[in-house]
Amino acid sequence: MTDWWKKACVYQIYPRSFMDSNGDGIGDLEGIIQKLDYLKKLGVDIIWLSPIYDSPNDDNGYDIRDYYSIMHEFGTMDDFDSLLNEIHQRDMKLMMDLVVNHTSDEHEWFRKYDDFYYWRDQPNNWKSIFSGPAWTYDKVRDQYYLHIFSKKQPDLNWENHKVREKVYEMMRWWLDQGVDGFRMDVINFISKEPSLPDAPDGDGSPYFMNGPRIHEFLREMNDEVLSNYDCVTVGEMPGATPEDAMIYTNPKNREVNMIFTFEHMDLDSGSNGKWDLKPLNLIDLKENLEKWQHALYKNGWNSLYWNNHDQPRIVSRFGDDGKYRVESAKMLATCLHMMQGTPYVYQGEEIGMTNVAFDSINRYQDIETLNMYHEKKSEGWSHNSIMKSIYAKGRDNARTPMQWSDASNSGFTTGRPWIDVNPNYKTINVEQALQDSNSIFYHYQSLIKLRKTYNIITTGKFKLIHRHHPNVFAFERIDEHEKLIVYCNFSDSTHTFDLPNGEILIHNYHQLDSNQELNLRPWEAVVFYQN
Ligand code: NOJ
Repeated sequence: MTDWWKKACVYQIYPRSFMDSNGDGIGDLEGIIQKLDYLKKLGVDIIWLSPIYDSPNDDNGYDIRDYYSIMHEFGTMDDFDSLLNEIHQRDMKLMMDLVVNHTSDEHEWFRKYDDFYYWRDQPNNWKSIFSGPAWTYDKVRDQYYLHIFSKKQPDLNWENHKVREKVYEMMRWWLDQGVDGFRMDVINFISKEPSLPDAPDGDGSPYFMNGPRIHEFLREMNDEVLSNYDCVTVGEMPGATPEDAMIYTNPKNREVNMIFTFEHMDLDSGSNGKWDLKPLNLIDLKENLEKWQHALYKNGWNSLYWNNHDQPRIVSRFGDDGKYRVESAKMLATCLHMMQGTPYVYQGEEIGMTNVAFDSINRYQDIETLNMYHEKKSEGWSHNSIMKSIYAKGRDNARTPMQWSDASNSGFTTGRPWIDVNPNYKTINVEQALQDSNSIFYHYQSLIKLRKTYNIITTGKFKLIHRHHPNVFAFERIDEHEKLIVYCNFSDSTHTFDLPNGEILIHNYHQLDSNQELNLRPWEAVVFYQN
C-alpha cells in the first residue's frame, strides 16, 4: 500500500542507551533483538535506529566513518541481518538514520578527494552549532574546512555531483538489504549558498537552511533512489516553516514523506537560543501546532513528536515529573497522538522517563553540552546558571540508559554504563509498567491501537477550540460523519467546560468528574467520539 506510513507509529531507538547484551556498558544490536517482543507488545510499526554505522563517536554516531559497516560496539553486519530479519518477522519495519550533510573527518573521502567538502583559504565568520567557529584549519591542506557541527563532522559539498552519486549509491545499497526507509539528519542543510557569505552575528543559518538547491537535490534523490522502493522518509529540518513543509512533503513534489519541525520545540527558548530558558506559553504551543495541522492537511503530512535523542524528556518539560508524572505523561501522549500525522515515540517515553540532574559536569557525555559549558564558563557565566540550562535542555536527559527494571543499572547492562543511569529507575521502569494495568505504557498501547481502529485519527480535519484558554489544549478532529473532541489539561488546576456528547475513547482518569459539566482535573485528558 502506498502511504502505509500514515497509519503507522514509529519508535525511536538510541542504540547506545537501549540494551546492552554483552556487558560492555554500551547498548548493541543483539540487545535490541532481545527487546523486539516488547516493542511489538507496545504496538509500534516502524523502528527508527539512530546511527549504527562505524564511527569514532565524536557525536555518538552522527559522525560516520564508513557507511557500509556497523559500529563495532554495536555488533557486526551479521547481527544487523538478524535484527532486520527479526523485525520483519514480527511485521514491523526498519528506518535507518541517514547522515549525509556531513561525515566524520575520519571518513576516507576526507583525504581521498579534493572537492568533497568545503575547503577555503579563508574561513567566513559562521559559528558552529556546537560552539566555537564553524571552520577548522587543516595542516595537511593548509586550508580551512567547514563544519556546521563539531570539527570532526566536516560538511559534504553537495554542489559536487560525485558526492551526490556516492550518497545515492549508498542509500540504494541499504534499501537493497531490505531496510524500509530513512530518517534524514539535518537534510535541509545540504544546499549552501555557494559564496558562503559572512553572516550577522556569525549565524550562517540563512545561508545553509533550506538553501538554494535543496528542492532540486531532494527531488534528484527521490528520482534516483527513493521512488524505486516502497519506503518511508522523514527529513529532520531545523528552521523549516509550515510553508516550507508544504513544499517538502507534498507528494506532487517528490521530495520526502514528512519532516520534523523544530518550531514547537523552540517555544520555551528565549532569543539567545536553546540554553536561554523561557517558560512555555501554552497558547503559543496550541497556535503553532494548529498552523502545522492546517498547512499540511491534504497538502502533505506531519510527523508528531515530543521527544527524541536531542530533546529533554517531555514529562519534565511540558508536564509534571513529580506528583502528576503518570497523569501528565498520559495527557501529553493523548494530545500528540490525537493530532493528524505520524506519531514518534522515543525510547522510555512510553514509561514516562524523566530528565536527569547529574551533580557534576564530569558526568555529562554530550559534546554539545560540554562545549557549551566551557564556552559559557569562559564568557563568565556561573557554574550554577549553566547547570540550570543543562538540567532543562541538555541532550543527555534523553540519553541515560533505558530503564528496564529495578536491577542494578536499571537492567540495561551488567557492566558499567557509558553514561550514568537516572537514579529514579527503581520506581520508573519497564518491569513495573508492564505489571500495572494503569501504567503509561498501556496508555500508549491503547493510543496506538485506536489509530488502527478509527480512521478519523488519520484523516480528520483539525480544529482548535477554546483557543484563548491558557491551560487547556482542546481540539476537534472532523470528518464528514464523525468527530473526535480532545481535551488536555496542561496544568494542575481544575477547569470547567460544557460536557460534550459522545463515547469516551480514551481517558487518563477512571471516570469523568461531571454533572452537566466537564471538570477537567489536574493534567486530565479525555477524548470523545461522535458519529
Ligand atoms: C541532528 C541529530 O539529531 C543530532 O543528534 C546531531 O548531533 C546533529 N544532527 C548532527 O548530526
